Amino acid sequence: MKLDIGDFLQMKNTKPISMLTAYTTPVARCLEKAGIPIILVGDTVGMVEMGFDSTREVTIEHMEYHVGAVRRGAENTHIIGDLPYNTYIDPNIALLNAKRLIAAGADSVKLEGPKLEVIAHLVKNEIPVVGHTGLTPQTAKNFKKVGNSLSEAQRIKEEAIAIQQSGAFMLVLEHIPYNLAHEITALLPIPIIGIGAGPDCDGQVLVINDAIGLGDYWPPFSKQYAHVTQTINEVVKLFRKEVMSKEYPNNIINITASSKS
Ligand code: KIV
Repeated sequence: MKLDIGDFLQMKNTKPISMLTAYTTPVARCLEKAGIPIILVGDTVGMVEMGFDSTREVTIEHMEYHVGAVRRGAENTHIIGDLPYNTYIDPNIALLNAKRLIAAGADSVKLEGPKLEVIAHLVKNEIPVVGHTGLTPQTAKNFKKVGNSLSEAQRIKEEAIAIQQSGAFMLVLEHIPYNLAHEITALLPIPIIGIGAGPDCDGQVLVINDAIGLGDYWPPFSKQYAHVTQTINEVVKLFRKEVMSKEYPNNIINITASSKS
């Protein structure tokens, strides 16, 4: 059953929320089957699947394509569509682009930073919004942890409060000190989802490619539960070897023939 905003609000302080990104139909299918309650179609797709150096190259058309693919794989799961860089520079532009992601299959949208007027405008127009503060990759100069100094920690805390007060129903905190995430989680009434923000958030999100080990760079805070790149390398080498030796397709033809007889 697809969860809505009310369900997620109820999960705060009662049930830790597991969120993963997905960009394609087969992966979305796996997430739904495993009972992941909320999928983020993140603009990380640009870096982990499209070969860009940053998320800034991702367009609204890219996101529509991936949101659609994920929806076809996970019909009954709440999907957040990430608004890409430059697509929410003012409230009206944001509304047009948010509507495109909703039409493509998203249930809510996520945007980075304290874009308070934008958030309020989307919420007023019945588009549920997820906020994102701490490290905000669309505008960050590097991927280092933020919020180490007192003034930066204070800024992030104030941003988090303002994002919630503007109407966001959930907030992602990325790569900040654990004690700061703890404080914000205790302070705000909405679910706080951490990535590199320690154990005290209401839930955790990981980029799926990081979690399954598909890629060649891992953020220091992510856990690789599997090593899919290694598996692909092994399969590809074996396939090449078998084609050259003509073992394939003979080995599969023999199996198919014997299973028919
Ligand atoms: O785009 C994304 O995948 C994200 C996560 C890192 C939270 O914003």
